[in-house]
Amino acid sequence: MNSVLLASNRGPVSFTVSDDGVLTMRRGGGGLVSGLSGVARDEGVLWVCAALSDGDRSAVRQAPGGRLDHAGYETGPLRMLDIAPATFHRAYNSVANSTLWFVNHLLYDIPNAPHFGTRFRRDWESYRDYNGAFALALAEGAAHGARVMVQDYHLTLTPAMLRAERPDLRIAHFSHTPWAPPEYFSLLPDEVAREVLEGVLGADHAGFLTRRWAGAFMDCCETVLGAEVDQRAATITYEGRTTRVGVHALGVDGKALWTRAAEPDVESHMAAIREEVGDRKLIVRIDRTELSKNIVRGLLAYKEFLDAHPEWHGRVVHLAFAYPSRHDLPEYREYTAAVQRCAQEIEDEYATEDWNPLILNVNDDYPRSLAAYRLADVLLVNPIRDGMNLVAKEGPILSPRCALVLSREAGACAELGAHALVVNPYDISGTAAALHAALVMPEAERARRRERLEAAATALPPQKWLAAQLDALA
Ligand code: G6P
Repeated sequence: MNSVLLASNRGPVSFTVSDDGVLTMRRGGGGLVSGLSGVARDEGVLWVCAALSDGDRSAVRQAPGGRLDHAGYETGPLRMLDIAPATFHRAYNSVANSTLWFVNHLLYDIPNAPHFGTRFRRDWESYRDYNGAFALALAEGAAHGARVMVQDYHLTLTPAMLRAERPDLRIAHFSHTPWAPPEYFSLLPDEVAREVLEGVLGADHAGFLTRRWAGAFMDCCETVLGAEVDQRAATITYEGRTTRVGVHALGVDGKALWTRAAEPDVESHMAAIREEVGDRKLIVRIDRTELSKNIVRGLLAYKEFLDAHPEWHGRVVHLAFAYPSRHDLPEYREYTAAVQRCAQEIEDEYATEDWNPLILNVNDDYPRSLAAYRLADVLLVNPIRDGMNLVAKEGPILSPRCALVLSREAGACAELGAHALVVNPYDISGTAAALHAALVMPEAERARRRERLEAAATALPPQKWLAAQLDALA
């Protein structure tokens, strides 16, 4: 029995299974996981996550009782849930990623918003089952009065389900995404919108990355549920219970990041990049190929910058990392193709025999992206909407001289905006102008801003972020 538990869809490790049945363990991906793995292990937190692949499922089956304890390896105590693949697919792809993610990032183009018919209702049932499986596992693993931290939009129903099962527990929910304003949130079928909000309100504490997302959640509770909201006290009272709302702006552990970024594999990637680009200035971006990251508009802005500033031809290279993500969804496959088309157009128009204006990296290569941070002169982070965006925080820690071009719609802008060049992510010309301003920024100003960005980025590292959530449950 554990006194502190954490639940998220993606866990700290994943397994691949070879043809002859040998399992290999590797670290899980994504902002949430990279932020929390180290601290969860150090604190001995029981991490409950879903088995995401065949490798994960066979790992679960090989371990008695479906429990995987890897004390001494990269994780602390871990329980991976073997959820039926069809249930998992509907909950993760259809509801979590195609619906809740889209709603919270305002990704639907309204005239073509989904038809919430019987098929969606069936998928919603699976989302309930999937959330129920987490609630059950947490209820089984929690000691009396334990503190449980439920993470993200995959698990909005789990807090209320768990409370029904185990009223003795203290439960937190944390959203790593934005939250939609009520008029957009209400695209969801009414009973679904209510269930999501009631699910999160099953927690004692609902956490968000910025005031803006916390405020939107409170507005939804007021408008959709008719809950009693006290914005100043940050409390929501509904059906006789009060949930406190908190803002915890997850930051980066600068020391740990530097330790990793100073390793020889990163250094050799740095040498390789320098070999490729010479002493040209570098504009870097690092993202999953994700609709909300706005990669296409970023490339169009770079193109406009090249159009407007021929004096930079041959003197600058855009190093863009667009890692594969969520390829089970057609929208993501189409978006990936659009990114590649746009990159090709830039190359066709501007490349010369001895200058390649754009290098697009489409494979996940963590050490190469760390090398790119270290070499960046400009870091472009232009999402149309983002819960936080840790890239905006990692860059200024690792790059000795980078200027940050940052979307005002990234959660990180609340803390970093004063020291970045802030852009409207829809405005391609404005973004192009900011890229130019960042490239020509005088060294002294660049250094001053970078120092302040670093201080803001490391203000609430994962250790402190986790402690703040636990304190909120004390
Ligand atoms: C976002 C979510 C995380 C998620 C990550 C990667 O950052 O907030 O919970 O892990 O995206 O998405 P994926 O679908 O690959 O887990």
